[in-house]
Amino acid sequence: MAKILEDISRTFSEYLLLPNLTTEQCIPTNVSLKTPLTKFKKGEEPKYSLNIPFVSAIMQSVSGEKMAIALAREGGLSFIFGSQSIESQAEMVRNVKKHKAGFVRSDSNVKTGTKLKDVVELVKRTGHSTVTITDDGTARGRLLGLVTDKDYRISKADLDDEINKYMTPIEKLVCAKKGITLSEANDIIWENKINCLPIVDDEGRLAYLVFRKDYEERKNNPNSLLDAEKRYIVGAGINTRDYETRIPALVEAGVDVLCIDSSDGYSVWQKNTIDFVRAKYGNDVKIGAGNVVDAEGFRYLAEAGADFIKVGVGGGSICITREQKGIGRGQASALIDVVNARNEYFKETGIYIPVCSDGGIVHDYHITLALAFGADFVMMGRYFARFDESPTRVVKMGNNYVKEYWGEGSNRAKNWQRYDLGEDKEKLSFEEGVDSYIPYAGPLKDNMQVTISKIKSTMCNCGSITIEELHQKARLTLVSNISIQEGSAHDVILKELDKKL
Ligand code: IMP
Repeated sequence: MAKILEDISRTFSEYLLLPNLTTEQCIPTNVSLKTPLTKFKKGEEPKYSLNIPFVSAIMQSVSGEKMAIALAREGGLSFIFGSQSIESQAEMVRNVKKHKAGFVRSDSNVKTGTKLKDVVELVKRTGHSTVTITDDGTARGRLLGLVTDKDYRISKADLDDEINKYMTPIEKLVCAKKGITLSEANDIIWENKINCLPIVDDEGRLAYLVFRKDYEERKNNPNSLLDAEKRYIVGAGINTRDYETRIPALVEAGVDVLCIDSSDGYSVWQKNTIDFVRAKYGNDVKIGAGNVVDAEGFRYLAEAGADFIKVGVGGGSICITREQKGIGRGQASALIDVVNARNEYFKETGIYIPVCSDGGIVHDYHITLALAFGADFVMMGRYFARFDESPTRVVKMGNNYVKEYWGEGSNRAKNWQRYDLGEDKEKLSFEEGVDSYIPYAGPLKDNMQVTISKIKSTMCNCGSITIEELHQKARLTLVSNISIQEGSAHDVILKELDKKL
């Protein structure tokens, strides 16, 4: 007979943390969010750690090279999506590894002749006040001029004017040649009292922009996740089919950490993939596996040699796996079970395998709960897809801006290798994810700072200044429906609502 678990499958919102004694030590500036990314032996250091416990999801609509750079700069890590050709994924990895901090690709570019009103709209949408004018309107076009929001006064200007009337033309711009170092670029910025230095190649094509305002930040960004050569650390998602060609191409491109991307990781295919890595590279190449939702799945991947293990089936915001296939587990229950198995494994073998909670983070406090349950870091899709740095378009809907966000199991992603076990694709395929919009939230850095300060503050309430301490000390309680209502504003007329009435 089938085994029926007694426990209900529960998720984050059903739990609350209880405060512990907050001592003088417990202030946010003392909190470290450093956390292991790959497995290690008791008493030793992991090869890779994260400076903040965030990784971005292995998804087309989340983790491209821009996200990878922005997140590594803040101390987290992106796994570049694997649902693309081996060549283009390797190229993205290569671009992250060769990215020079401080040299940014211009985001806001228009063609010569563009109307001022379109530039104003672009600035509003991107939040970037510097716009380049290139011959073809792209970030790699021939540079013709630069305009900032200080060059036009919206109230006085004719919005139908061409932007060329307001831009500083190339003849009057201070530019530098591709190949200069960042410190040389900074010197030019200071000597010429300019805010932005365009870097062009020999044909006058735009390569990068260097901004004065980034200078201080570049000087002191101690949290950045860097390798020994001061390049950003980057991950990549792989599948269990073309790994024999994809992995060598990614390793060649300089990838730091791999992760097998699958909605069901409790499979022999994952073991075969890890075996391939161990046979070819020994322990030099790090590889995470998943996703699993229980002790059995964890043990299988641990024994197969995974460097970290990802938890979660069916909880992602764009996920319809549970509806389509009736399989999965509430994220809290899954984590509790897997973390117990991990701790057992650690006691038994002295090997600590980091656990990643993947999917279903809706509120910032869910991240703290995941860490309190024993996760070492979280993987998020929706959270990151909202930011400027995700690869998708910003779209205006009514009076609001939204970004596109689609699942890897949606038709749009056409990521069949992840979901299909080899049957006739055309006839038998069905979707496990949706294509959606989410509210646009602006730059990653600003949003993440708020999230991080909430996590640090809660950790202090829980008497913990490290994630390891939180693992040991956290106390959690289940909540009833009524007490959930008690937790948000209630029995008052909100002023915002009052205004609308
Ligand atoms: P989110 O942070 O709640 O948006 O969840 C992101 C996670 O959902 C990813 O890291 C994947 O594990 C999972 N996921 C991505 N695409 C799909 C899909 O199409 N169906 C089911 N799960 C998905």
